Amino acid sequence: MTPSGVPEAPHTLITGGAGFIGSHLTERLLGQGERVVVIDDFSTGSRANLAAVADDPNLTVIESTVTGCESLGSLVAESGYVFHLAAAVGVDLVVQSPIRTIETNLKATEAILEAAAPNRTPMLLPSSSEVYGKSTREGFAETDDLLIGPPTLGRWSYACSKLMDEFLALAFHAERQLPVIVARIFNTVGPRQTGRYGMVLPRFVEAAKAGSHAKRGWDAITDACVAAVAARDEPSVFILWGSHAQAKAKRIAGLRDGPHCVIESPHPSPLSAHRGFFGSKPFSRTNAFLSDHGREAIDWAL
Ligand SMILES: NC(=O)c1ccc[n+]([C@@H]2O[C@H](COP(=O)([O-])OP(=O)(O)OC[C@H]3O[C@@H](n4cnc5c(N)ncnc54)[C@H](O)[C@@H]3O)[C@@H](O)[C@H]2O)c1
Repeated sequence: MTPSGVPEAPHTLITGGAGFIGSHLTERLLGQGERVVVIDDFSTGSRANLAAVADDPNLTVIESTVTGCESLGSLVAESGYVFHLAAAVGVDLVVQSPIRTIETNLKATEAILEAAAPNRTPMLLPSSSEVYGKSTREGFAETDDLLIGPPTLGRWSYACSKLMDEFLALAFHAERQLPVIVARIFNTVGPRQTGRYGMVLPRFVEAAKAGSHAKRGWDAITDACVAAVAARDEPSVFILWGSHAQAKAKRIAGLRDGPHCVIESPHPSPLSAHRGFFGSKPFSRTNAFLSDHGREAIDWAL
């Protein structure tokens, strides 16, 4: 054991190692037989992200903030490489907690660079494509001039704090010969990324799940519109896709016993389309009904 209580060096130190990217990196390095020390405060990451490697004797997990980690100096000194991934990440978190964002992204980075400087411990520091700001160029270069939004818009605190991290890293490289690599990462997605803090793709995936759009207030408006159309004498076509719409229609007076045409089939979603939606011909049947009642057919082509 080393003075900081972890197995003999060299190990790789990963701050934010229980996060989305960090946990995959931790698994990869352990899989290569390396020793890994993770410092993480589990603010946006979790122990569950490291469940697959929790029993690996080459893994040491320290629950702490980077700046609050008492053994940070010795942990960095004993490591062969540092990945400094800990940061305040996610648009919601950044907008709601700008102080935390700025402090985490500046102070933690300053602390880790200071700790790495004495032994010139090599380090990877992820920055963000947010740094490119409002540029309308088709291709970006790290040497481009930057156009960032104003400080009255909280979201820019993330880009600016990451940019300041870049300045700090380059300053440590220039003045103290620290071998540090800055990577401006673009949107990265995959398993274990959470949408809780505003990451866009996990949110889209959640929003696309079956039933995710229910109970959001639109049902009452839809019901009222359908009931109003069903109550008219004018023949109308109702296309009821899926059991939810079909059950709902049972409760609307006049819809089935009026002069209307009701076309039913399973929902056209990828989960159920094969159960009878294909071949149900809702569009040509609608047009046939409209023609039979002297109405103009609909051009369904986009
Ligand atoms: N995912 C992306 O699309 C993306 C894009 C650009 C840059 N990045 C950068 O990559 C790095 C990792 O991002 P991620 O997507 O895995 O996010 P993440 O939120 O899943 O990971 C960050 C980890 O850092 C931990 N952490 C936060 N503050 C801490 C602190 N003060 N002390 C210790 N641990 C702390 C969190 O608990 C979490 O486990 C971040 O630096 C982020 O800015 C990510």
